[in-house]
Amino acid sequence: MPTERYVSIDDCRICGSSSVSEFLDLGMVPAVNNFQDAPDASIEKYPLKVVFCEECNHVQLENTVQREALFQHYTYFSSASDPLLNHFGQYAAEVEQDFLTAGDLVVELGCNDGVLLSQFSDEIQTLGVEPAENVAKTARERHGLDIITELFDADVAMEARERHGEAQALVANNVVGHIDDLHELMHGVDALLDDDGVFVMEVPYLIDLINNAEFDTIYHEHISYFAVRPLSRLLQQHGFTLFNIERLSIHGGSIRAYIQRQDGSRQQRQIVSNLRTLERALGLDELATFERFASDVSRYRSQLRELLKDIEGDASVVGYGAPAKGNVLLNYCDIDANTLDYIVDTTPAKQGTYTPGTDIPVRPPSDFHDDSPEYALLLAWNYKDEILEKEREYRKQDGQFILPQPYVDLV
Ligand code: TMP
Ligand code: ZN
Repeated sequence: MPTERYVSIDDCRICGSSSVSEFLDLGMVPAVNNFQDAPDASIEKYPLKVVFCEECNHVQLENTVQREALFQHYTYFSSASDPLLNHFGQYAAEVEQDFLTAGDLVVELGCNDGVLLSQFSDEIQTLGVEPAENVAKTARERHGLDIITELFDADVAMEARERHGEAQALVANNVVGHIDDLHELMHGVDALLDDDGVFVMEVPYLIDLINNAEFDTIYHEHISYFAVRPLSRLLQQHGFTLFNIERLSIHGGSIRAYIQRQDGSRQQRQIVSNLRTLERALGLDELATFERFASDVSRYRSQLRELLKDIEGDASVVGYGAPAKGNVLLNYCDIDANTLDYIVDTTPAKQGTYTPGTDIPVRPPSDFHDDSPEYALLLAWNYKDEILEKEREYRKQDGQFILPQPYVDLV
């Protein structure tokens, strides 16, 4: 095993404590966004283990896999999903209305293909920071956005500041969980944010992950699984504080955290302390809670495998949606091309490829409509409502969706 491709942590990424305990082992899993041009049985795999910090209660991966190994073929384009496009349109409008005036600068960390930045009005200056070359290129070409093609850190923050001045808003959607060095992130935020600026971040919320058993959202790119208490601790260490939080249904349940400097002008909203209380009540400060979660996950694996075994041979089964998390589920549950004939996905860059580790062909949705297979395993379960609505005809004609979340079901 090429151990140099990943490192294991000894200490918590937030508080530095060495009291970190492993509670979940999802086995050896490849980089789940690396859809392959051809089946590849010898694809590299890395341990996928999750630990809990007894000191600050931060939940995080035990291993950090090198970025180069994770992003060889980056195929995640935010604007590929209509629901996300709408989400970001509304989001841009809200940030602009609440925190920005004409001429202000908004910088987005991990701006992907520009789906959020492009939806700010012309009065607002925008700058994106995005390490994946191909999506950054799309952001430039499609929307004419100014993008720094780097991973955000203190140096990039200084470069951005020299180019455009201080930012009145920093936005980070579904990227903070990807950052190994959270302290470097905060140094960057500190360097770039205006004195009374706002840092808005969206991250999947640990309460939702646990309550809905969303174990497949755990993969190497997602290093941290945030709850409010450990997040507050990180912010506090760097002179920042949370003043508001919204809970959102996106990505299986997320929080949008609004952050300012400790001497910032905005009043802290009640929800911040309410969520801290809720997290303690739900046992997110105890290892035992996470150990229970791990045994649910293992039971879940058996149930899904059992169902698929019963169906196999008698009927055709395909996958619906090829999100990265689908590849966690397929790898962990050992589901490959013997079980799923193919997977359909709307993202053109994924069509014609094979799923990493399980070698299932990815095809356009038209194949699904032509074939009408008896069963479709809904791997993109976070879009369940939209997809069930879109595929009414399929279900009317006796097609059935296998829902993997929050528990195995047929609809
Ligand atoms: P995401 O959960 O990471 O946004 O990924 C969802 C994947 O599912 C993405 O590859 C697009 C795909 N998808 C479909 O194939 N059909 C759909 O109707 C929707 C909403 C998404
Ligand atoms: Zn800690």
